[in-house]
Amino acid sequence: MNVVVIGKSGQLAWELNDTRPDNVNLTCLGRDNINLFDEHSVNETLTALNPDVVINSAAYTAVDKAEEEPDAAYALNAEAVKHLASACKALDCYFIQVSTDFVFNGKADKPYTPDSPVAPEGIYAKSKQKGEQYVLDLYSEKSAIVRTSWLYSAHGNNFVKTMITLMNKLDSLSIVADQTGSPTWAKGLARFIWKLTEEQSQTGIFHWSDKGATTWYEFAREIYRQGRDKGLIAKVVTIKPTTAAEYSAPAPRPAYSVMDCAKSYLIIDGTTWQRNLTKIFATHILDY
Ligand SMILES: NC(=O)c1ccc[n+]([C@@H]2O[C@H](COP(=O)([O-])OP(=O)(O)OC[C@H]3O[C@@H](n4cnc5c(N)ncnc54)[C@H](OP(=O)(O)O)[C@@H]3O)[C@@H](O)[C@H]2O)c1
Repeated sequence: MNVVVIGKSGQLAWELNDTRPDNVNLTCLGRDNINLFDEHSVNETLTALNPDVVINSAAYTAVDKAEEEPDAAYALNAEAVKHLASACKALDCYFIQVSTDFVFNGKADKPYTPDSPVAPEGIYAKSKQKGEQYVLDLYSEKSAIVRTSWLYSAHGNNFVKTMITLMNKLDSLSIVADQTGSPTWAKGLARFIWKLTEEQSQTGIFHWSDKGATTWYEFAREIYRQGRDKGLIAKVVTIKPTTAAEYSAPAPRPAYSVMDCAKSYLIIDGTTWQRNLTKIFATHILDY
């Protein structure tokens, strides 16, 4: 099976490569290999590779910077997705678009299902939702949209690695305690995506997060507890709760973005976020 992953240096792309099944001939394309902003180039590049499946893990993921660079965010998170969906349709190949819990406004009091109404706030969220809409409008018959949340991996930049670094430098940290979501190990997400790829029959919107919900503050405390246990954090750190208003990030973030993953867990079961954190701490998390 010929599979093309778009966005080769990101944390999800790295995990997709690391977990690829034996029967997959995988090509990962970075910005030097495909011009996602040019419809003709996207068509030409994909046609030459003749894929059975295309997985788009590339995205403009700098949530706060997107507020200053809306054109760049929309170009990659929406217009490039339109080009990819159209090219996949022309090639009749299965398309997987990765999206985000930020398509929800966070005002719910129970987990969002795949058909809960979206109401993105902020440029990153709106641009990702526009990308979703292009997929649904142009190629719903052979595409899956996989929304995920609070992604981390041993590879790339993410909350877990940032916390470990800061906890080895600072005596005290203030972490937002009024935003609730589900941390997700990118390796588990990659395995779910490979399962969809194997079957190529699942279409529509899927939610994939690790099981359970927490706040950034409680997540940081668990990173600290497990990191100290594993000898990854050498010093004593005080972790204090703060509010999103006090932290005052440029982009709005949903106060509650827990997603109902039941539909996805029927395809392959998930793991609690605490267990996956233990698993990643058993790998060489700081080596990458
Ligand atoms: N990270 C999270 O917490 C989170 C949460 C929910 C959903 N998601 C979604 O999950 C997916 C994967 O996220 P991630 O954390 O793996 O992202 P990431 O680590 O930030 O990787 C994004 C990738 O996109 C690539 N890219 C950017 N511009 C490109 C271009 N013009 N052409 C080709 N590639 C380009 C980047 O390449 P360079 O390295 O060369 O810039 C990078 O490899 C994204 O769709 C994201 O929206 C992420």
